[in-house]
Amino acid sequence: MLIAQISDTHITIPGGPDKNSELKLSALDKCIDSINLLDPMPDAVIHTGDLSHNGTLDELKLVKDYMDRLNTLYFVTPGNRDCSSTMLDVFAERIGDRELSTNIIYEAKNFPAKLVSFDTTSPEDNLGVITFDKIASLDSILCKNQEAPTIIFSHHPPFFLPDTFTPNIEYRSKNSIKLFNEIIDRHPQIVALFCGHSHKSLRQDLGMFDASVAPPLCGLLNNGDDGDKQSLLGSYQLHKFNDKHIFTTEEKVLEN
Ligand SMILES: [Fe+2]
Repeated sequence: MLIAQISDTHITIPGGPDKNSELKLSALDKCIDSINLLDPMPDAVIHTGDLSHNGTLDELKLVKDYMDRLNTLYFVTPGNRDCSSTMLDVFAERIGDRELSTNIIYEAKNFPAKLVSFDTTSPEDNLGVITFDKIASLDSILCKNQEAPTIIFSHHPPFFLPDTFTPNIEYRSKNSIKLFNEIIDRHPQIVALFCGHSHKSLRQDLGMFDASVAPPLCGLLNNGDDGDKQSLLGSYQLHKFNDKHIFTTEEKVLEN
């Protein structure tokens, strides 16, 4: 299974107050072209949230216009900058049957591995929130076809970030991390977790599998160290799974 991951595009409408609007769109444009030239093509493309910067209908429609040019299937999960209800309208055909009407938690079917979007956003603020309802929805998806290797993709990384001086989380409380840990303990079929939000790339061993955080697509938004900022246009990631369901990640840097 081969998965391309795009994250944190933060698209705005050109001509407005965001002076980086054109650059971010140019990065998305080049990214779509780059993915379409891959051989072999990825089985699926995932966008791990913050598709838009302000969550407006026009911004999300603009992102969809670009992503619809992909020659392979793509799926989206919301970031704190996106508006879930608007996303549900704009990307209706890309979002499968949901377990909860208010959250974007769904399974993308008919792939060699089960691909699950896990909505970590909250309408109140930019931090991640994992509730009992969300866990129940995720659990219900994971309890079906438990023998199928499963890949989860979400926006906020649900673990303690390994590269900070003091333990740090992207969530409102540690309880979210605890709830997520409990569910991954119960479902050993999970083979990978792909996230965004932190605006830098990192990989973390979660015990039974690894989690990977993708950088923002546009290099201008990258908070990583200098080695992470390889291009102003930025980069996306390509995750390749072997027959033991272990993935390696290739950073695909966009040419300026
Ligand atoms: Fe975010």
